[in-house]
Amino acid sequence: MSAKLIIANWKMNPETKEQAEHIASEIRAKTKGAKSKVVMCPPFVYIHEVAEKISGAKNIMLGAQDVFQNAGSAHTGEVSPEMLKSAGVKYIIVGHSEKRAAGDTDEVVREKLFTALKKFKAILCVGEKERNTEGEYFSEIQYQLKSALTKLPKMFVKNLVIAYEPVWAIGKSEKEAMKPHELAEMVIFIKRVVSDILKIKNPKKIMILYGGSVTAGNAKNIIEGGNVSGLLVGRESLKAEEFSELVKELD
Ligand code: PGA
Repeated sequence: MSAKLIIANWKMNPETKEQAEHIASEIRAKTKGAKSKVVMCPPFVYIHEVAEKISGAKNIMLGAQDVFQNAGSAHTGEVSPEMLKSAGVKYIIVGHSEKRAAGDTDEVVREKLFTALKKFKAILCVGEKERNTEGEYFSEIQYQLKSALTKLPKMFVKNLVIAYEPVWAIGKSEKEAMKPHELAEMVIFIKRVVSDILKIKNPKKIMILYGGSVTAGNAKNIIEGGNVSGLLVGRESLKAEEFSELVKELD
């Protein structure tokens, strides 16, 4: 298997700095030599501790779960791209369904994406809320992609990663993750839509990840059957042992 990109989205976890340091160190030790790249995305408060624990590791990079889109400094509670750059962040997650549910509109997602792409690799999350037999989810995904990507300057395209995360599959059991053959169908659709919007001649170059109840038990099948370039992992990325298994299994 070629090297994959695995995003560890810790969300609002863990509860203490010590736990964050422990998880980061354990994953570092247990995935040493693995072919895949891991992007560790802790909450902002632990970013420096995690940066220190993974410093010098060849296969692990630092990521952020969000970024603020407006310039200036009078933005209480927000974190700027400059701050993230100075902390050593390389990737930023944008448009996660939990951020969308908490108020990030399509316009905000677009602004955050453009902000992130100026200095970082950005992971744009898209995903339908539910699946029905009429296939309306295709137009939902197309709409999300269009509103985020239209008029994206060509020079940013190389920094773009799309994470397809069907909302109905997030936070469920291993068995409820999306079936690989259904994922493969959606991956073809996303590549077509993105290459149309961005006028990309070779859709194969578009990097697509899958997220939603990925575990060490289903990761390999999802990657192989779904034809994705990597995974976005939530809960399982906080369990150092299981997560490291997952990463190594993809070698
Ligand atoms: P999960 O979360 O792996 O816990 O389902 C994925 C995500 O929301 O990014």
